Amino acid sequence: MIHLAAIDLKREKINTLLIPVCEDKPIHTDAAILALAESALGLEEFQGQLDQEVILYNPPGLSVERAVFRGLGKAEKLDAEGLRQMAGKSLKRCAKMGLARLWVAVPHAADLSLDAASVLTALLEGAVLGNHVFDRYKQKKETKPLARIDFLVPAEHARRFQKLAARIETVCRGTLLARDWVNTPSNEKTPEQFARLITAAAKKSGLSVRVFTEAELQRRKFGALLAVGAGSLNKPAMVVLEHKPRSGRDTVVLVGKGVTFDSGGLNIKTGPSIGDMKCDMAGAAAVTATLLTAAALKLSRRIVGVIPLVENMVSGRSTRPGDIVTSFSGKTVEIGNTDAEGRLILADAMAYAVKTYAPKVMIDMATLTGACVVALGEKIAGVFAGDETLRAELLAAAGRTQERCWPLPLPEDYKELLKSSFADINNMPSAREGGAISAALFLSEFVGNTPWAHIDIAGPAYQKKESAYCGAGGTGFGVRLLVDWLMHGN
Ligand code: BES
Ligand code: ZN
Ligand code: ZN
Repeated sequence: MIHLAAIDLKREKINTLLIPVCEDKPIHTDAAILALAESALGLEEFQGQLDQEVILYNPPGLSVERAVFRGLGKAEKLDAEGLRQMAGKSLKRCAKMGLARLWVAVPHAADLSLDAASVLTALLEGAVLGNHVFDRYKQKKETKPLARIDFLVPAEHARRFQKLAARIETVCRGTLLARDWVNTPSNEKTPEQFARLITAAAKKSGLSVRVFTEAELQRRKFGALLAVGAGSLNKPAMVVLEHKPRSGRDTVVLVGKGVTFDSGGLNIKTGPSIGDMKCDMAGAAAVTATLLTAAALKLSRRIVGVIPLVENMVSGRSTRPGDIVTSFSGKTVEIGNTDAEGRLILADAMAYAVKTYAPKVMIDMATLTGACVVALGEKIAGVFAGDETLRAELLAAAGRTQERCWPLPLPEDYKELLKSSFADINNMPSAREGGAISAALFLSEFVGNTPWAHIDIAGPAYQKKESAYCGAGGTGFGVRLLVDWLMHGN
């Protein structure tokens, strides 16, 4: 769908050409594009300010049907994210206009104090991510994604960045798949249905797949996971995916929270937030999409994805507040609150992963706490990692991908909050304050000595309103972050 192209604008017939323009200086080198930008800037309504747009039809001397100019503001203030957003907004706009194809004039990196690879990466990501519509449940399909986007670059860049472009498209497709899964309503992604969707995608990508049924989970004593699933008519499951290249010796384990719907259980959610709880499997979606992407990119590390899937519902079989269960690890857990279910399924999944794979490093991703949203807002994930190197690597990946993360602490003395009078640990902290931290500390009790990080994505996994390169709903947050980390970290 995306291509890098070096063409002679004077010769090629083009229907739509997008030209990004800064207000304070020229940012292109091609003479024809510079001249076009000049004529756009001559209009009263266009100065190249951020988000300004103007369209010129059939500009003289070229076979361009429409040239769309998009303002980027001041060049010195522009960063990669500014380019990503511009590309995303432009693609959305073109899709709404009903266009099927777009050419994008790529600015000259040196004029933006960026390097050529960063400029391309940002534009390609914004374009692919913005060119996505989730309309599966609409009879009338209002906007259609563009079928093809070509990026105009110098001939040398077209060769040099060929692989980069292919990789970006693959990774972004992972993000889009994760969005689609999060947007899928809970009645069509029960744990068993979602396990089948994951299995089908994984088999196509050459990952090995194993699905644990409820009966197997019972036999293996996943007591905490089963307690969460007990109230639902839809049985729980757990999927284990494996990317096993010949070269990979050490194992990375990724664990994703897969609560296909979180009603809260008997501690039922009363506010309006219950309406968005189909998003509570966003961690599972991101981890699965990361493994699919790792396989497509043929990454050299062995990666295992562990994906516990449950529906947290209310019935005569629901786990009660005050019940005590024995987790996979052997630790007993008092279920002080049935709405703190994510940590229960993750505890079993992680204890299983540690025992089975003795990973070199393990990361879990989860829409775990409302407290993390209160602390960091809806756009930033919380990162908890005892291991300083791992934390630094994840924050670096967050910086590169603009999937923003902020470090939060794991203070030993706060474990006090998780004491139970009757069991080894309580899933409900005794204080409301610091809820994201106590949740992470609960998880830490189930990872042994494994270097581990927990990423709480309750904020950024889902958005009520559309943003520059994402529609309303699932954002696919975490896929670009984890893939970037897998490629850079060790
Ligand atoms: N799935 C929720 C967390 C959540 C909140 C996700 C907002 C996405 C957006 C989680 O299972 C939950 O309910 N957590 C409780 C924990 C509490 C009972 C200790 C919470 O955050 O209130
Ligand atoms: Zn919950
Ligand atoms: Zn939940």
